[in-house]
This record gives sequence, C-alpha cells and structure tokens, in this order.
Amino acid sequence: MNNTPHIAIIMDGNGRWAKNKQKQRTFGHQKGAQNVRFVLKHCRKIGIKYLTLYAFSTENWTRPKLEVEFLLKLLEKYLKQELNLYIQNNIKFDTIGDISIFPKKLQNLIKTTKEKTYHCDGMTQVLALNYGAKDEIIRAIKKLKDKQNINEKIFAKFLDTKDLPDIDMLIRTGGEHRVSNFLLWQISYAEIFFSDTMWPDFTTSELDDMITKFKEKHRRYGGD
Ligand code: IPE
Ligand code: IPE
Ligand code: MG
Repeated sequence: MNNTPHIAIIMDGNGRWAKNKQKQRTFGHQKGAQNVRFVLKHCRKIGIKYLTLYAFSTENWTRPKLEVEFLLKLLEKYLKQELNLYIQNNIKFDTIGDISIFPKKLQNLIKTTKEKTYHCDGMTQVLALNYGAKDEIIRAIKKLKDKQNINEKIFAKFLDTKDLPDIDMLIRTGGEHRVSNFLLWQISYAEIFFSDTMWPDFTTSELDDMITKFKEKHRRYGGD
C-alpha cells in the first residue's frame, strides 16, 4: 500500500528567473530542466511513488514561436539525456495531455521512452505535455458512450490520469497563486503549497519542508 503523497508541481518562474539575471527566457528553461533531474532523484530517494510535472500547457502555444520551438527541442534533449536516469533508478516515465499535435519524431521519442521504462516499478514520473484540464475533460466526454450510468469513478477512467491516484500535494513555484488549468478534477482534495522561489532555484530542502507540513495536515474530505 502506497502512503506517500502523489506530488504534482506547476514548475513556474523559468522566464523571470532568467530575466532577473539579464538572460534570455530560454536560459531559464534550460536551468529548469536541469532542476527536474535533481527534484526527481530526490523524490525517488525519499520514496515518493508518483510525481507529476507540468511542463507545457495547452495555453503555452500562444507564446512566441521561437520559445515554443525551444521548449519542444528541450523536451527532446531531456528525454534523450535522462532515459538512463529513469532506467537506473527504476522510474517509469509517463505523460498526460494530448501529444498527437507534436512533431512525429517527438511523439516517437515519447513513446519509446515510455516503452523502455514500462517495466520500472519503483516510482512513476508523469510529464504533463500539451496538457490542459479542460481539454482533458472534453476529450474524456467525447470517449463516453454510456452517459446515463456514469459516476465519478467511471468518469475518472476516461481521463488521462486513469492509472494514477488523485493528487495529494499540489505545489506551484514562481510566486503566482493560481492553478492555470492543471489537473482540475484530480486536485479536488489536494493540499496546495505556493512558493515564491522561481523553479530553477527550487530546492529539495524546500520540498522536504512542504512534505513535512503536508504530513501534519488533517485531511477532512468534508467530514469532521
Ligand atoms: C514555466 O516557466 C515553464 C513553462 C511554462 C514552460 P515560465 O516560462 O512560465 O516562466 P515565467 O512564469 O514567465 O517566469
Ligand atoms: C503554467 O505556467 C504552465 C506550466 C508551468 C507548464 P504558466 O506560466 O503558463 O501559467 P500562467 O500563464 O502564469 O497562468
Ligand atoms: Mg509562468
């Protein structure tokens, strides 16, 4: 039985982190991707079973073309570079979001990364790619055949997160207090933590402090 929290992180603040250093936003994205590695390894070490990271939203397409292209290239580089990290640490890679819009080559890389880590059962790390909660819910509704007998449990099986437990801890770095279309269904009873730290600077000790606070919470789920 898994009693560690499913942690979801809105990794926000890459652009401002870079701007504060008089650098291009893309430099912030690079540093942000490096930080994923540290946080992921740490989560594996402390026994977290599920870590879901928001990497690219359905709204992020509205950014300048060059930034979008950079982010897709960065994703490709990350997957190629980190495959061994996943395998060596027994971490399964998975995604949520509609990746059918991505270039074919990137789609294939995502697919092979999933296949090559499918057997890993130490932890699952999910990347949210072209993910938007509203889009996910609409796509789920389109898959429904028998609408009369639907209930919450059945509906959840049509979401991208069908194989995942609900979120226990939602973290947003970068100082904004909003959820930006992330996992609206799955965060129904999540404990929410906001940090002013920009994602590239977010440390594992800050994460540990949040987990300690999470463990002290009395989750009432509407009860007493
Ligand atoms: C988060 O950092 C990464 C993505 C959304 C891809 P941002 O790029 O949103 O950085 P800020 O929020 O503008 O600083
Ligand atoms: C949320 O950050 C998306 C990701 C971290 C991938 P945004 O920077 O896109 O969110 P807003 O625009 O501040 O709401
Ligand atoms: Mg942002």
